[in-house]
Amino acid sequence: MRTFLLLVSCLVFAIVSVTGLRGTKTMRSPIEIFPDMVRQAKVKEQAPSYFFSDQRASRYPVPGTVPTTDPVDLPYLNTGTIGDYWGDGIPIPVTGETLKTGRERFEIFCSACHGSTGSGNGIATQYGLVGVPNYHSEHTRQMPDGQIFFVITHGQGLMLGYGANLSPEERWAVVAYIRALQLSQNAALSDVPIAERQRLEGK
Ligand code: HEC
Repeated sequence: MRTFLLLVSCLVFAIVSVTGLRGTKTMRSPIEIFPDMVRQAKVKEQAPSYFFSDQRASRYPVPGTVPTTDPVDLPYLNTGTIGDYWGDGIPIPVTGETLKTGRERFEIFCSACHGSTGSGNGIATQYGLVGVPNYHSEHTRQMPDGQIFFVITHGQGLMLGYGANLSPEERWAVVAYIRALQLSQNAALSDVPIAERQRLEGK
């Protein structure tokens, strides 16, 4: 029995030594039972590779490759910009549901400073925050949709960005809601549907 136990311990010790020991400092490569792709044939950038006929390890993209990671090429939906310019227009369907989402997010994230009607008189201004713009000013009304999207994403001046809190679709919903707020204060009679217009004009 003792010999058996001794033999088993020796065996266990041998197995653990062979399979378990890795990373000991030695010039020789260790015995690796499970190499797990630690060492593999690969090419490094800016180094020659004799695998390719021109011996360059850095390869050109396959012809026809579409770049997707360069921020300049990210679609309008994610940036609010088209090339070097602000885009105008809301790239998601603007439905009642969209405006509801926009209103909800606006009340949560923006109204404390900008006020529920967007006139720049939120509760924070009563505690001394200055410089909150009025959405009904000519300046904000003339801002392209893409620029408003950009301000929501990255912030501007004293205002922090909300890109981490709101998905791109939610940010566009807030842009749509801001446009609705602006319309509510600056609409012309011609914006009113015919039936309602007649009622307003008392016809
Ligand atoms: C902490 C207060 C605060 C909050 C919250 C806030 N803003 Fe602002 N916002 C400001 C201030 C201050 C400015 C002016 C920044 C500047 O240009 O110096 C501003 C500027 C803007 C502008 C630019 C207007 C213009 O005419 O230049 C837009 C659009 C805007 N905010 C939208 C939003 C939206 C949408 C939200 C919610 C997602 C939001 N803000 C949340 C304080 C706030």
